[in-house]
Amino acid sequence: MRHSDEIYEPGFVKGVFDRCSDRYIAFSYACSLGFTERWRRQCVEAMPVPPGAAPRGYDLMAGTGEVWPHLLRRYPGIQAITAVDISSGMHRRALERLHAHRAHRIEFVERDVLSEDLPPESADFIVSTFGLKTFNPAQHVRLARLVAGALRPGGVFGMIEASDPKGWLLRPLYLMHLKGVLPLIERLFLRGAQDFAMIGTYSTNFGDASGMAEALRAEGLEVEFRRFFFGCATGVFGRKPAP
Ligand SMILES: C[S@@+](CC[C@H](N)C(=O)[O-])C[C@H]1O[C@@H](n2cnc3c(N)ncnc32)[C@H](O)[C@@H]1O
Repeated sequence: MRHSDEIYEPGFVKGVFDRCSDRYIAFSYACSLGFTERWRRQCVEAMPVPPGAAPRGYDLMAGTGEVWPHLLRRYPGIQAITAVDISSGMHRRALERLHAHRAHRIEFVERDVLSEDLPPESADFIVSTFGLKTFNPAQHVRLARLVAGALRPGGVFGMIEASDPKGWLLRPLYLMHLKGVLPLIERLFLRGAQDFAMIGTYSTNFGDASGMAEALRAEGLEVEFRRFFFGCATGVFGRKPAP
């Protein structure tokens, strides 16, 4: 096990995702039995309706842009999505996946999201799918401040993350899948790599999104905490109150 703080260093996280990026889409779909795709859709559905007919917003820790089809299907009027991700590998995949009809609405920023603030009150919505677990609690507080600063009054947010389903009868099986079966598949079929195994470590360290909910509330946002499929994913949804 690596030193607990080191795995939350931006350079370390970037390395993990750069190495995973080629196989991320297939691995995440297959190993979650399709649940990640369902949770992305549910995240967009649970997010309150953004203000205005042509909203602009951010996809933080955007990865391969997996949430964009859900977002644009539900809100066809979206004018622009600014995707932020630290990993150039994931960034490249995202660009390859851009379809001509949506490319003009998506801008990609490659950087550590916590390295600087987003432009103040620039967003009608902020979405993030599976981007919370690689942050520790202090980084969640920083992220919450950044989200609160970037949302316009009335702006909305939705964030979802794979979580530890504490109290669920089948939790031992789930943890065995995450910490035993997935690393084994990776070692056997992905040339001995241990990067997806790290994702299991991040998920169990993360617990659930309740800490993020508290951090967002502390920034004055209205927040609802929700559990999905017995707590195997949890999310935070809400808005910045209009004055
Ligand atoms: C598990 S992937 C999720 C990708 C995508 N949102 C999805 O739904 O599949 C997490 C992403 O967060 C990005 N990430 C992690 N730490 C980051 C940071 N500090 N700043 C920006 N992106 C970060 C990683 O590069 C990776 O692409």
